[in-house]
Amino acid sequence: MEKLVSLCKRRGFVFPSSEIYGGLNGCWDYGPLGVELKRNIKEAWWKDMVAGHDDVSTLNGAPSAYSMVGVDCSILMNPQVWVASGHVGGFSDPMVDCKGCKGRFRADQIADLKCPEKPSKCVGESDKCQLTDARAFNLMFKTNVGALEDSSSIAYLRPETAQGIFVNFKNVCDTSRVRVPFGIAQIGKAFRNEINPRNFTFRSREFEQMEIEFFCSPESSEGWYQYWRNRRYRWYTDLGLKSDKLILRDHHPDELAHYAKGCADVEYEFPFGVSELEGIANRTDFDLRQHMQHSGKDLNYFDDQEPDAAKRRFVPYVIEPSAGADRATLAFLCEAYHEDQVEGETRIVMRFHPRLAPIKAAILPLVKKEGMPEKAAELYRTLRKRFNVFYDEKGAIGRRYRRQDEVGTPYCITVDGQTLSDATVTVRDRDSLEQSRVAMGDIPGWLAEKVTGDA
Ligand code: GAP
Repeated sequence: MEKLVSLCKRRGFVFPSSEIYGGLNGCWDYGPLGVELKRNIKEAWWKDMVAGHDDVSTLNGAPSAYSMVGVDCSILMNPQVWVASGHVGGFSDPMVDCKGCKGRFRADQIADLKCPEKPSKCVGESDKCQLTDARAFNLMFKTNVGALEDSSSIAYLRPETAQGIFVNFKNVCDTSRVRVPFGIAQIGKAFRNEINPRNFTFRSREFEQMEIEFFCSPESSEGWYQYWRNRRYRWYTDLGLKSDKLILRDHHPDELAHYAKGCADVEYEFPFGVSELEGIANRTDFDLRQHMQHSGKDLNYFDDQEPDAAKRRFVPYVIEPSAGADRATLAFLCEAYHEDQVEGETRIVMRFHPRLAPIKAAILPLVKKEGMPEKAAELYRTLRKRFNVFYDEKGAIGRRYRRQDEVGTPYCITVDGQTLSDATVTVRDRDSLEQSRVAMGDIPGWLAEKVTGDA
């Protein structure tokens, strides 16, 4: 993990937030390469789950075809939303204070946390530790909306994106002509005042979620739950997380929330241990019913296009695949990190899936003369319109390759002496290190096929 954190800092993937002022615990900034990686992950999710999702009637395990639409809701919402959702009453972790060091810790984690005053001991084990009894600590960040700072103006930074979807269920039904079964997706920031943020970006106070609320009939919900459970697991393996490090863990019935009928976590074996990337839950009709009760609005679904016999009014069940964009980014970073031996030297190589790689190709003139930089710059300008590519003419070609390996660029395209005579370039593959010649004019289509699957 230390090697990865250091690479992330050195090459501009992730920086501590507001670092020049000493940072802010639990907050992180993505640098120029990190932002590309995270955007590629979010775009892959949106493309695969929302915009370009397959007609699932042809996919195995899916009960029938469905549609999927997106929303982008506000972070601040009417505080009643969080009363109805249960977050005001129950979104808390057990916390203990230490009167010795004035630290505050999650009660269920003290066995793994080091005492800040005496790091050789765990919290509670040093002579100076004086722990209080555990008490509930609500994880929502509070703020005030408007000029008055009193209880009438309290609002919360949303702790999940899901509720924005539930409270827009009727708006979407009324305006989008969607019919059950259908999903509403959202990517956006969420905030939790975690007591002990830790493990780099894994547990942060500000993070991004990629959530789907999938509305279906109660009878079909088990089939859809199985479909989403399997589909979400496959999404990660398709993008390069190896199945021997990726676990799909079904919750034991004792672990389920009182309203849930089923829940599974996609977990990844991080260097710091096996931890959750995403949860997929059958939340029944709990959320819509809560909002019906608290808002007084009718959130029943009525399908007037069904044949007469099937016409009925009901509150849909919800299957919720809820993923963290930052946790997925961290998992793809961990999976990508490799060290191998090339020409007697240790090379650090980030083996990102080409769809996720921040830079898709580096364009390199072999030497800075004989017209090679001009030809390479011409190719760079053509590719730049469609892909994030990088131009580099500084230093020996071997060192330029290594710099690209370290940031996970899948292809290095070199303009060399032969280019000037036959208009072909050398393409070097990051993983196999094989080199082949491709006609310069074919490179845009060739690269599109390699990095997106589209020519
Ligand atoms: N709407 C359901 C929900 O929010 P959750 O398990 O609390 O469920 C879903 O969160 C996902 O959000 C998690 O699987 C994780 O990927 C991400 N997540 C939750 N808390 C996080 C944190 N403090 N830092 C980073 N990601 C977090």
